[in-house]
Amino acid sequence: MCHECGYETPRWLGKCPGCGAWGALTEEVATRPAAASSGGGPVASSPVPITEIESTSEYRFSSGSLELDRVLGGGIVPGSVVLLGGDPGIGKSTLLLQVSNAVSTSFPVLYVSGEESARQIKLRAERLQVRSPGLLVVAEVDVERIEQHIDDVRPGLVVVDSIQTVYTRELESAPGSVSQVRECAGRLLRKAKEAQVPIFLVGHVTKTGVLAGPRVLEHVVDTVLYFEGERHHSFRILRAVKNRFGSTNEIGVFEMSDSGLVEVKNPSELFLSGRVREVSGLCVTASMEGSRPILAEIEALVCSAPFGTPRRTTTGVDASRLAIILAVLEKRAGLLLSSHDVYVSVAGGARLDERASDLAIACAIASSFKNAICDPKTVIIGEVGLSGEVRAASRVDTRVAEAAKLGFERCIVPLANARAAEGHDSLRVEGVATVGEALEIALGG
Ligand code: TYD
Ligand code: MG
Repeated sequence: MCHECGYETPRWLGKCPGCGAWGALTEEVATRPAAASSGGGPVASSPVPITEIESTSEYRFSSGSLELDRVLGGGIVPGSVVLLGGDPGIGKSTLLLQVSNAVSTSFPVLYVSGEESARQIKLRAERLQVRSPGLLVVAEVDVERIEQHIDDVRPGLVVVDSIQTVYTRELESAPGSVSQVRECAGRLLRKAKEAQVPIFLVGHVTKTGVLAGPRVLEHVVDTVLYFEGERHHSFRILRAVKNRFGSTNEIGVFEMSDSGLVEVKNPSELFLSGRVREVSGLCVTASMEGSRPILAEIEALVCSAPFGTPRRTTTGVDASRLAIILAVLEKRAGLLLSSHDVYVSVAGGARLDERASDLAIACAIASSFKNAICDPKTVIIGEVGLSGEVRAASRVDTRVAEAAKLGFERCIVPLANARAAEGHDSLRVEGVATVGEALEIALGG
């Protein structure tokens, strides 16, 4: 069985035909499917017209963290199972311990850890100033006993850290193997629905390790969250990749501090902190993350390439998009960049996947190439087409409003969006139709 994707084959293979991972197939003893799943017996369920199903407005409760609530779609839904994935050390246990603490002021919370002893959790809890008596901690890995604890405690929230350490004695394979992880998650899911208790499962993402990746779990659970961030930056982004109870394009931003994760209410300020003004090659754009606009600074450095093929290196921006923008700048705006090295990065470690940041990337590159400073009080928004035209972007009014809020004085936006973006006293909106026009305005000719 492939521990990355769960593909099954009766013999060993070097490469998994399911997901293409090398060396991912491990031997597992197949078990007979449970009698219940093989069907048969009298039919107990009956189809009903959808119009006759009672719609009860969903009850949710707050996790104590506005950022997490937003990502979940408004709060925790009783009976739901949420998988929290992320690299080791990113802060999964920290986040869930803080959430458990907040929730335990209203209901009892059961925190099951298979990774740390109760004493280790206590050490962390002291650092996080967690001291609610409603938070019950148990170091346990046997799923039957976890179910028993849930029955005994009747908690309002259960955290299982991590699903890879949990096992059932019914299966012979080792904890962390695909069949164990799938079976235990399935059992906890049934428990969650039956007891109407929300369960958070922590899952590790491993590329080469022996633990089962959370991929196999994604189909089973209601919500999949990923916690990501760069190891060398203190901020962390929480993203939903699947959500049966809300949208998947919201993000939550946190900062790791000495006393745990702190919510970042205004991510734009974080991404724009530490700006140096009077330097060429810098340009600010407004990107949308779900319903939230986030301002980020793009840095570009263009210098002549001494030999042969010039280098193009990016951080936070897709390399193939950079290639397109460079081609457009060369062909449509007359900047001879083909003999220059180009480095582009997004300050603060943010990622800009949205096409609406194209124009700002182009301006940052042109600014560095011409050694002309781009006005630091200007925000640039727009998608760049292959013929050098600036295409309309979505939600320009929201982006411009965020720029105005943070004290920017001018916005360069696609001409098609200019009307919609106006209406801020402190901020001037300039509509542009081509990249050339944008460069002229941004770099002052
Ligand atoms: P942790 O929650 O243990 O990560 P995970 O469960 O995802 O593996 O986070 C561990 C990291 O967070 C560790 O490198 C130390 C850091 N940290 C802080 O910086 N401040 C804190 O208050 C805590 C508890 C951890
Ligand atoms: Mg952990």
